[in-house]
Amino acid sequence: MSEEQLRKDDIQGQIVHVYDGIEEADNELPTWWLVTLFASILFSAFYWMYYESLAAGDYPEAAYTKERLAALEGAGEVTDADLLALVGYAPMVSAGKSLFFKNCTKCHGSDAGGKDGPNLTDKFWLYGGAPSDIYNTISKGTKNGMASWGPKLGGGAVKQVTAYVLTLRNTNVAGKAPQGDEWTPSEAPAAPEPTEAEVPDPAPAP
Ligand code: HEC
Repeated sequence: MSEEQLRKDDIQGQIVHVYDGIEEADNELPTWWLVTLFASILFSAFYWMYYESLAAGDYPEAAYTKERLAALEGAGEVTDADLLALVGYAPMVSAGKSLFFKNCTKCHGSDAGGKDGPNLTDKFWLYGGAPSDIYNTISKGTKNGMASWGPKLGGGAVKQVTAYVLTLRNTNVAGKAPQGDEWTPSEAPAAPEPTEAEVPDPAPAP
């Protein structure tokens, strides 16, 4: 196609090439676009260095776990519900598992089936099987051979190891014969279903 047929389009600008009726312009890329491109290339280099090459920063999940672990150190009443909530958070349980393997297997066995210390996987507990009972036993210790781990490990670590022990409860590993009393969680009374009669009449319109 000859040069003189190349027109200037209102939107595309100067047409530089036509083929089969398809017109092509060759405009410069807008500054905002180029700035965005080069800025993101620069950003990715720093991002890669920070998180990958130097590993200076934690990924969000690791940072979150660290913060939750730090929050656990805080003093305060330890409730069954708090401890059970930790059981639902996998990094907490795996932190507790490492603590267990480091400090507890010598006496309780690596499967927690019991050695010098009792089997922690059965339904029978010397000092109670409620989450807060287990926390207190581990934290404060007992007179007959179980040390108080609270001062040694810190409150947060005791909560983690408690979370791990709670995952073992009632897994019934064959091991040391049951000691103590059978413990079953007390049934929370079911909330009564509201009946027809109890539903209050809507307030009369003023
Ligand atoms: C030196 C041995 C030893 C070590 C180490 C040890 N325990 Fe114990 N543990 C015992 C003994 C012995 C008992 C029973 C105490 C009693 O009869 O008063 C016990 C009891 C317990 C109980 C109460 C069980 C029940 O039936 O009520 C729990 C829970 C427990 N230990 C958890 C742990 C955890 C968690 C660790 C690690 C942080 C740990 N123990 C480390 C020896 C040990």
